Amino acid sequence: MPDQPTKEAAANIGVVGLAVMGSNLARNLASREGNTVAVYNRSYERTDLLVSEHPEAGFIPAQSYEEFAAALSKPRTAIIMVQAGRGTDAVIDELSKVFEPGDIIVDGGNALFTDTIRREKAVRETGINFVGAGISGGEEGALNGPSIMPGGSAEAWQTLGPILRSIAAIAEGEPCVTHVGTDGAGHFVKMIHNGIEYADMLLIAVAYDLIGRGTGKSPAEIADIFTAWNKTELESYLIEITAEVLKQVDAKTGKPLVDVILDQAGAKGTGAWTVQTALDLGIPVSGIAEAVFARSLSSKPKQREAAADLPGPSESWTVDDPDTFIEDVRLALYASKIIAYSQGFDEIVAGAEEYSWDIKKGEIAKIWRAGCIIRAQFLNRISDAYSDDPGLVALLTAPYFRDAIAGAQESWRRVVGTAAAAGIPSPAFSSSLSYYDGLRADRLPAALIQGQRDFFGAHTYKRVDQDGIFHTLWSGDRSEIETAGSSH
Ligand code: 6PG
Repeated sequence: MPDQPTKEAAANIGVVGLAVMGSNLARNLASREGNTVAVYNRSYERTDLLVSEHPEAGFIPAQSYEEFAAALSKPRTAIIMVQAGRGTDAVIDELSKVFEPGDIIVDGGNALFTDTIRREKAVRETGINFVGAGISGGEEGALNGPSIMPGGSAEAWQTLGPILRSIAAIAEGEPCVTHVGTDGAGHFVKMIHNGIEYADMLLIAVAYDLIGRGTGKSPAEIADIFTAWNKTELESYLIEITAEVLKQVDAKTGKPLVDVILDQAGAKGTGAWTVQTALDLGIPVSGIAEAVFARSLSSKPKQREAAADLPGPSESWTVDDPDTFIEDVRLALYASKIIAYSQGFDEIVAGAEEYSWDIKKGEIAKIWRAGCIIRAQFLNRISDAYSDDPGLVALLTAPYFRDAIAGAQESWRRVVGTAAAAGIPSPAFSSSLSYYDGLRADRLPAALIQGQRDFFGAHTYKRVDQDGIFHTLWSGDRSEIETAGSSH
């Protein structure tokens, strides 16, 4: 019997999971012309609450997966917004029972991309499309326009593209969504987004710490500095909200709120995934790694307590010229930020190669210009760099960024040196500077490491003046022998 357009099958999109992110995304979808949204939550009270609080949205509530599927027109399209992990698998199982070949299941959570690859493969067997979509922008972004990074098949993108375009943030007239690549590509790119987010947040936090401790300025005064920085190349959402956070006064004590927040940073894991994946891919993402480790270090109260009386610099530290110091910190932050992005994009390139994804780097920079947490003016420059030279081997070598670092590097070096002398941790600044100096070095002490490896394990080495693989008889007459086998 041909499908009859029934009253029930009136929704073109559904949302499963109605916690804040899911509810906001459902409301965003419903507010765009042409969308009718079916909603389902494991406990019906939440569904009921959303529907009654937002009659304007015209939601179609479902009490069961069967009802939910019946409410959707074909191909049925549902976005899952539940906490990443086992819950996601359970919902996929339920939807797979009531969906049909050609329908589309979208996971909008922060799933690990390898889980998404696994899920896509399993769901594809049933003929249903599975799309892992990274969604960034927090609660506010979900409601008013997030940046969306979908993976999955080109077939699913046909249906999904217009729907996602209708709810995404807009940057310079363009919706912040693109089909990133197949299977786990979208979640992979969202993971890198989060890694960069971690790095950017630490850089800003260290800048705040250095200025506060170097100049004695209050959080509210530093907020004004960040507000001024937000009119420079650093213009970004994270700089903007930092000023807001620093201005906030604690209602209970009247102190700056930042001074009464416990200094132990939490993490849900996406930053760590970025670093774990980078290790597997062999990509140095030192700026991001330092940001993950800095959170871990902060959250070790026992070790911090035990180390609290370890000696630091003997001289106390004061800044002679606060304005010059503040400008140095700004430039150090800018240069380190370029490194964090450059490393993040290196990981995208390596991931794309490893998993055979055709990821357009310039497009990724474009969809990060609005809606997401790392949204920044700066992303236009990244997108330009990749459109000027699609084969760019490292972002920091693009003319714009090369010049930016050239203009910032002296300040950067001064800040890292000053912080070290003053005993103030500046991991994101110093590790980024070491990366920069390592990358531009003519010759690295890696030669000595090769010598050591050959000494204790006959691991062999290559020479600068001759092809082949060599091993030295270290204890004998120091003569070299060429080995026929491959190096270890
Ligand atoms: C976003 C954010 C969002 C989030 C993460 C990171 O893009 O909207 O990245 O995904 O804030 O949950 O949180 P943690 O700092 O807790 O790891």
